[in-house]
Amino acid sequence: MKKTIAIFLFIFFAIIVAILVAGLLFYQSKNQITLPAGVNNSFSSPISGNKNNPVKSAGSSSQVLNMTEISKHNSVADCWLLINNKVYNLTSFINSHPGGVGTITNYCGKEATSAYDTKGGRGRGHSSYADSLLAQYYIGNFDQSIPKTTLQQNTQKTNTVTPPATSGDDVGGDD
Ligand code: HEM
Repeated sequence: MKKTIAIFLFIFFAIIVAILVAGLLFYQSKNQITLPAGVNNSFSSPISGNKNNPVKSAGSSSQVLNMTEISKHNSVADCWLLINNKVYNLTSFINSHPGGVGTITNYCGKEATSAYDTKGGRGRGHSSYADSLLAQYYIGNFDQSIPKTTLQQNTQKTNTVTPPATSGDDVGGDD
């Protein structure tokens, strides 16, 4: 009989403790959710994450547009330029460049701000038309970490652009 009472008391207190712990956890989680907008909730765990303090991914699926990455794209077939801290994929434009192919390919995979601003040392900058063309080949900002999927979309987009050739070369001539 004593044994039964002891077991009963043990279960009773276990249930009481469980209810208290559940109540405490519920109270804490409710407090986090009802924080007024803009209130610093730095006391909440950065591991759990919420809409004010999202968990940041390790970034393995991201690509940082730094010099190491840019310098890999250093050929006519794959040409990135860094101009004014912005990264451009000029691959599909090279052959249409009014200033010639070689002028751009010299800078593939490199910082090319002053080359662009001086037309390779000629002392005068490109036109606003050239600036608007350039904008079409933008991938991201220097040192920006962008998802690889976005990068693929951006580079595919740039590779489908066909700027008008203004060099005046006659490329027909089959008569
Ligand atoms: C970064 C290396 C580059 C160099 C060294 C360079 C050099 C030159 C040169 C020498 C000319 C002929 C200049 C003249 O006869 O007036 C030229 C013209 C031109 N380039 Fe570039 N270029 C570069 C990049 C670019 C880029 C990235 C674009 C656009 C996406 C571009 C677009 C043009 C256009 C549209 C012209 C015709 C003139 C004008 O509108 O300014 N160039 N470039």
